[in-house]
Order: sequence, then structure tokens, then C-alpha cells
Amino acid sequence: MDFETQYAAYQAAIEAYLNRLFTAEKPYGKLYEAIRYSLLSGGKRIRPVLTLEFARLGGTDWHLALPYACALELMHNYSLIHDDLPCMDDDDLRRGRPTNHKVYGESLAVLAGDALQPEAFRLIAQAPMMSAENRLEAIQVLCRACGADGMVAGQVLDTVCDVADEDGLRELNRLKTGVMISAAVELGCVAAKMPTTMRMQALEYAAQLGLAFQIQDDILDVTGDEAVFGKPIGSDREEGKITFVDLKGIDGCRKEVADCTARAKAAIASWGDRMFLLELADQLVSREK
Ligand code: IPE
Ligand code: IPE
Ligand code: MG
Ligand code: MG
Ligand code: MG
Repeated sequence: MDFETQYAAYQAAIEAYLNRLFTAEKPYGKLYEAIRYSLLSGGKRIRPVLTLEFARLGGTDWHLALPYACALELMHNYSLIHDDLPCMDDDDLRRGRPTNHKVYGESLAVLAGDALQPEAFRLIAQAPMMSAENRLEAIQVLCRACGADGMVAGQVLDTVCDVADEDGLRELNRLKTGVMISAAVELGCVAAKMPTTMRMQALEYAAQLGLAFQIQDDILDVTGDEAVFGKPIGSDREEGKITFVDLKGIDGCRKEVADCTARAKAAIASWGDRMFLLELADQLVSREK
């Protein structure tokens, strides 16, 4: 199966799974509406796709990993809803549409994000066909990635600490973006019970991909086309953020992205079945959205 067909198959399964969530009639239906507004607004689904591909590479039926993959996507969507709030990045546009708080107000946006976090863990805890031990391991992976020493720590460094040097920014990017991408990969490895050596290589691929991904995001925040990127251009500067672009310039950043991508691909060089991961890494370098 070629890359596009496989990606489309993963994406369709992810959309169908997510679309079945938060559908019941409730007196607090506005909450479900706010959650679904963000969750089903056309994200690229890179993280859950990674989970499913690593589950497949580990030799399991990737469909079984859908609850793990979508749990991570729920967590990611909470992080975006909160990231856009006036007290954070104060952005009005996400995936080409008004941000959650612009449509539903700040209270509901905060609460939609709040609700998505336990709901993510619920998807893992209730995953059919996975052993209790396997589900516990997956929950620990997600906890580490989004917790106080993970993505939230990255958001703290990004919004309330003045990080301005290269090592500091590298750590900030690793925490705010890298750890969630690594968790996506690791959840696939857990679902497939992948052996240690292969898992280490998978995690190195993820770490390099994650850094490349955030630097590319910072580049697009300067050079992107709002209509394609779906987010406001110049948001980082407006918020007074120092990013890799300020330190290295656009060309320096492009080189950094290319280097990280090369290292990501090198990490899985010994894998026979690696075409999808190589193509994915390449697509992320040239992405415009
Ligand atoms: C946006 O992530 C947040 C960053 C870590 C840069 P994505 O670019 O994966 O966002 P969606 O889910 O596709 O909208
Ligand atoms: C977002 O980083 C990281 C998380 C949401 C955890 P950014 O603030 O750069 O993401 P965008 O550009 O708003 O998507
Ligand atoms: Mg931010
Ligand atoms: Mg932001
Ligand atoms: Mg950004």
C-alpha cells in the first residue's frame, strides 16, 4: 500500500472513532458541542497516525490501537484549546476556523479542555482487547507526556519563563511538542508489545521528528500563508516569544529541520518496513499546514 492510501486509511479510522464520541443528548450539551467543535475540525492527525503505524510495525492489528491513538489526540486537542486562550497565546484562528473560546466563550473552552483530559485516560482504561497490564503501561506513557514534567512543563517554559538561548529552546520544544509526539509513537509500541531495541529506535525517530516538527511550526508562524496554515501568522512575535527563528534565522531553521529529519530516518535505518515513516518525515519538512 502506498503512503497516501495508508495515511488515508488511518485517518478515516481515526475520524470515525472520534466522531462516535460525545454524541449523547445531555442537559449540558453545550460542553459536548464545544468539545466536538475542536476535536472534529480537520486536524492533521499526525500523532494518532504515528501510534497506528508503530502498532502495525510491531506486528499487531493496528485497529486494536485506535483507543490509544485517539486518547492521545484528545489530549492534544485539549492542549490546543487551552494554548489559544487569551491568557496563553491569545489566538483567534485554529485549523482555519475561529478558536474554541471565540465561539463558545472562555469558560466553556477551559472546561472543554478540562473534560478532554480524563476522557483520554478513559479511552485507554476501557480499550477492548488490551490486557490490564498493557492499558496501565499506556496510561503511564500518556501521564508522563502530558503531565507536570511533560507538555505542561513545556507550556510553562513557553509562557511564563524567559527562555532565550538555544539549549533552553531545545528543551522547551522537546517538552511542549516533542514529548507528545514521542508518546504517540510509544503508545503504538506498547500496543504491539514491541521489543526493547526496536522501541529505542522508534523513540529516537520520534524525538528527532518532534523537534523538526516544532521548528517547522515556528518557521510557518513567520513565513506561512494563513489560509493554508489555518493559524494566525506572526503570533509568536506578537506574544513576545523568542523562537528558533530569532536565534538562527529562517535558513538556519530549515537546516535544523533537515538535520533532525535525517537523524530521524537514520534511527530506523535497519528496519525493513520503513517506507511510511520515511515518507512521513519528508512530508513534515515540506509541510505548509
Ligand atoms: C499544533 O500541532 C501544535 C504544535 C505542537 C505545533 P499540529 O500541527 O499537529 O496541529 P493539528 O492537530 O494538525 O491542527
Ligand atoms: C503549542 O505550541 C504546543 C502545545 C499546544 C502543547 P504553539 O503555541 O507553537 O502551537 P500553535 O502554533 O499555537 O499550534
Ligand atoms: Mg503556545
Ligand atoms: Mg499557540
Ligand atoms: Mg506555533
